[in-house]
Amino acid sequence: MRSRRGTYGLAMLTAAAMLAGCAAGGGGAGSRAGGGTEASGSAQSVGEDAAGASTAGGSSLETGGSAETEAAPDLWKLHTTEELMAVDYLLYRVNCGAAEDAGGETGLYQTVADQPYGADAGTGKQWGYRPADGMEAVEDDTGEDLTRYRWEIREDAEYDAEQTGFYYDFEVPRGTYEVTLGFYNPFSARKLTAEAEGQTVMEDQKILKYQLTENTFSTAVSDGSLQLKVYNPDRGRDAMKNPVLSYILVRAVPDYTADLLKQLLKQTATGENVAPGRQTPRYTAASYEAFTEQYRAAEALAQKDGAAEEEYRMQYTALKNAYEGLEEIRVYDSFLPGKKWTDDEGNLIQAHGGQVQRLTVTDPATGQTAEKWWWVGEDKTNGSSRSGICAYSSDDLYNWHYEGIVMRNVESRAQLDEEEYFTSLYADYTPEQKDRVFACLDAKSAIIERPKLIFNEKTGLYVLWFHADGPTETSDSSYAAACAGVAVSDTPYGPFRFIDRYRLNTCPPDQEDFHPQSKGMARDMNLFVDEDGTAYIIYSSEENLTLYISKLNDEYTYLAVPPEQAVYRRDYIRLFPGAQREAPALFVRDGAYYLMTSGCTGWAPNQARYYRADSVLGEWENCGDPCVGDENHTTFESQSTCIFRAGDSYIYMGDRWNSEDLKNSRYIWLPVEFDDAGGMSISYTDEWKLP
Ligand code: DGJ
Repeated sequence: MRSRRGTYGLAMLTAAAMLAGCAAGGGGAGSRAGGGTEASGSAQSVGEDAAGASTAGGSSLETGGSAETEAAPDLWKLHTTEELMAVDYLLYRVNCGAAEDAGGETGLYQTVADQPYGADAGTGKQWGYRPADGMEAVEDDTGEDLTRYRWEIREDAEYDAEQTGFYYDFEVPRGTYEVTLGFYNPFSARKLTAEAEGQTVMEDQKILKYQLTENTFSTAVSDGSLQLKVYNPDRGRDAMKNPVLSYILVRAVPDYTADLLKQLLKQTATGENVAPGRQTPRYTAASYEAFTEQYRAAEALAQKDGAAEEEYRMQYTALKNAYEGLEEIRVYDSFLPGKKWTDDEGNLIQAHGGQVQRLTVTDPATGQTAEKWWWVGEDKTNGSSRSGICAYSSDDLYNWHYEGIVMRNVESRAQLDEEEYFTSLYADYTPEQKDRVFACLDAKSAIIERPKLIFNEKTGLYVLWFHADGPTETSDSSYAAACAGVAVSDTPYGPFRFIDRYRLNTCPPDQEDFHPQSKGMARDMNLFVDEDGTAYIIYSSEENLTLYISKLNDEYTYLAVPPEQAVYRRDYIRLFPGAQREAPALFVRDGAYYLMTSGCTGWAPNQARYYRADSVLGEWENCGDPCVGDENHTTFESQSTCIFRAGDSYIYMGDRWNSEDLKNSRYIWLPVEFDDAGGMSISYTDEWKLP
């Protein structure tokens, strides 16, 4: 993310002064809709006095200069309904902070993405922003199209609670307009306020981190100029609460009639949900179903003459939204780090804190055996990881097919005795064992993170380990149990049967224990199977202060020997005592062992560090941060979860957590490079392909 243009300082006051003279006040008759204003969507009403002029006690755009102007022409005299419908009534679509030539769709009155106030070079319409002190255009590679750019206020800029913000002015004919403000903000949550025509139309709208927020309202304009202001009067002294603004849409509001609805029906008739040239669905099932429902309802209403305009409006809007909400299923041919990544049904991939490997799998539905890429991870649909562990398969690593939840969490103790899924899975468990299963997998309290899967040649079972946490009898903390959980299945499709969760090895008496009050803790974890078939679990212990590597037994279902009998260096080692590392990802390359790690800062990204050794339980050397050009030292805003080999390539898999909306966390997959001496490096790229 970077600032893509200069910031505006005092030198820009000339432009501001020029703009100050542009927004003439003055009357004119009311809009076509009768001069009133109305709220729509999440909007608040914008008032207007009887004469149709804005009642605002001063728009923030100063209206100095000529007080009287000619009455603005009426929108519907200037344009036909067909003309406006063809552009979806869109007069302006401003990608705030984008360069004029940034491209992208534009409204009828505009030919550039954004501009300082002035005449549009293509349409001659006067529109744009008022350059102001501290205003900074930022390009954000986590966003796309309208969320790729935004205005921010520089943190060190002088801040006036009432004045600092973003000001836009749009030349429009007399009429009623629906205005949408879009906000996309990767930093802290903040509340914003907006004025249109000098009236508050949005107050304290919460803009959540990494979440697109839109606010739509309607406003009548009679003086030929629509004025907007976005600011945060309650910002106080917290610069992280500075206003941001990603886009503005200005739409004409038509008369809603049966005929208009019929026109929309014609425009949105999409036929069957089949991708052109393919037999696969074109749109996601959910979005196509929602669209079909609205299409049918609109067809029925369009046959009805004389319904209330409001009824036509609601149905028109519902159909239009459902049409716009049709989500095309995307086919990928590259990795797009940090972008939304959907599966082959168009749903967001839910496999956080995961692991990818090549497996030979037999599809239980078809009985067909094939080599597949297999991705297990946390399903965070219900926040934290209450939904369970899921799996995806792929032939090319770019496009993934959802294989379902392979280990389900448990909703209630009764469910284990009543639901067929659980009764057959735990058929030979005693009631006490089932109590334990419930305590460890309780969907309301259990924390199940960072699942990792390995295949055991000897038993023919797939073994799933994960960070199994949750409150205990003595602590309500969600991370009190600090255990490693294990489950098995004879197929990677699951269902996996939970065996138990355990505390693991402890600090030997002759070494300094960094958390002696709670022994054997195990949190962020990973697995590694060495070339000789020995498996290891790598995990954060001692309250995340020290990493451990412990050898597993031949079945991979428990430690090689219980902690009381474990011999230091033969059965386990402690790594970097007190260094506070987590998110371990261990792999081998050309006989050298690599361990990627992160620091411990909750969901916030931090600087990576990797280590190298000649053997898993050998001496590990600190090799520093492998990230190149990672200016913020945040592992490119991600946290490691796995590094795996694909052909001759090694791929870094990281999570870009969205702590306020975990299911909307993104994946950062990047190529890992090695120099002649075996030094590892990771550089950022927006898009890449396997060689
Ligand atoms: C960092 C860990 O790596 C994640 O898996 C998760 O446990 C978060 N901490 C919780 O804050």
